[in-house]
Amino acid sequence: MDAFHIEGGRRLEGEISVNGSKNAALPLMAAALLTNEPVVLRSVPDLADIRNMQKLLDELGCEVSSSESGSPRAVTLHVNDESISHARYDIVRTMRASVCVLGPMLARRGRARVSMPGGCAIGERPIDLHLRGLRALGAQIELDEGDVIATAPGGRLRGATVFLGGPFGSTVLGTANVMSAATLAQGTTVIESAACEPEIADVAALLNAMGARISGAGTPRVTIEGVDQLHGAEHSVIPDRIEAGTLMCAAAMTNGSVQIHDVPLDSMLAVVDRLTALGVVVQPEPSDDPQRVSCRVTCERVLKPIRVTTQPHPGFPTDLQAQMMALLCLADGNSIVTEKVFPERFLHVAELSRMGAELHRQGATVVVTGVRGLRGAPVMASDLRASASLVLAGLAAAGETVVNRVYHLDRGYENLEARLEQLGAAITRRGDSV
Ligand code: UD1
Repeated sequence: MDAFHIEGGRRLEGEISVNGSKNAALPLMAAALLTNEPVVLRSVPDLADIRNMQKLLDELGCEVSSSESGSPRAVTLHVNDESISHARYDIVRTMRASVCVLGPMLARRGRARVSMPGGCAIGERPIDLHLRGLRALGAQIELDEGDVIATAPGGRLRGATVFLGGPFGSTVLGTANVMSAATLAQGTTVIESAACEPEIADVAALLNAMGARISGAGTPRVTIEGVDQLHGAEHSVIPDRIEAGTLMCAAAMTNGSVQIHDVPLDSMLAVVDRLTALGVVVQPEPSDDPQRVSCRVTCERVLKPIRVTTQPHPGFPTDLQAQMMALLCLADGNSIVTEKVFPERFLHVAELSRMGAELHRQGATVVVTGVRGLRGAPVMASDLRASASLVLAGLAAAGETVVNRVYHLDRGYENLEARLEQLGAAITRRGDSV
């Protein structure tokens, strides 16, 4: 298995552009199941999760071809066989986001069989809200051999009012599923307590380009007037706010100065607020598009301790909690990190401690006592963002850090080592790890 070897202590400098968003691209790809005309997506990142989604869609009768040449990378998705509607465990277990084929398939084909995603390293991750939403649209749902089997009586769902709030806020992929399913339902659907993440607004933008009638996406109330059919469309995926935030943390950790292009700044106000409170300087250039801004990220010498609480959007994203914690390890005093979306998402705590971090966890809160410096060590984490935090720590640590099992990182960051190297990091990929 591949590992990253990082020689820490190099200041990051230079320019880099943010790639297309993984979390938008996955439900956008699934939306292609709603029509038998081609859907073309631009700026799709080249990631393991995207390749898994391609494999799954291929099994479901949707041909996926990508233009390897040309920038940005375009992917064409075209359904040519609607006879197989079973998303098998083999694929779903490698990627929970496979569940986002459920809504589109049910709406278009009147039936869907999707293996129930299990828990994962960051917690239990149920799908009860997805199922509650689809049931409200009239779907009949049963469980058989670990699969969710959903059918629309008479082949078509019915519009309804659906409440999607749960104990940890709304559900992002659940909102994508119900919104996509409602596009072809008979009548109007109102999703109350919908997820407000920018990825949901992006999915709605594609669906509307395909002929859907959705308003309010990106707010807690989304209204969908059902239509009889959808057609093909072209769409550019929004830039990845989590990759942008990770790069900002990387610049700050190394006292660097990095110009980051295509930053979806309008979707990152909570992140910029916390970075600024800490003493990181984010200087945006004037831009006509608030979702593609060029920002210079630099850092004051002494970082001030802060409080960070993750929340559903527009709050601070859980997907940046681990990376922020790595940065807080270098602040001058005690910071407090509270996780309100996935209360068990702290796999990085033990690994960062191996690098000399002083972290004290109680339930969903970690007190981070800043240290003078981190020390390189062999580390490993079994989730994507936790692994990213270890790479960041390695960039700032004295000596060598070996981040093992980087296939977790490859799920969500395209060519991370080459991109950081281009900014001056001493980082190499080797295939020798445990
Ligand atoms: C998406 C993102 C993930 C991000 C998460 C929260 C993708 C591919 N993944 O995951 O990177 O960390 O949003 O921003 O877009 N919950 C329930 N019942 C449900 C569904 C969720 O209780 O039916 C709970 C979850 O356990 C969690 C919270 O709700 O505590 C939020 O989960 P959710 O928004 O559904 O996460 P995903 O959409 O799976």
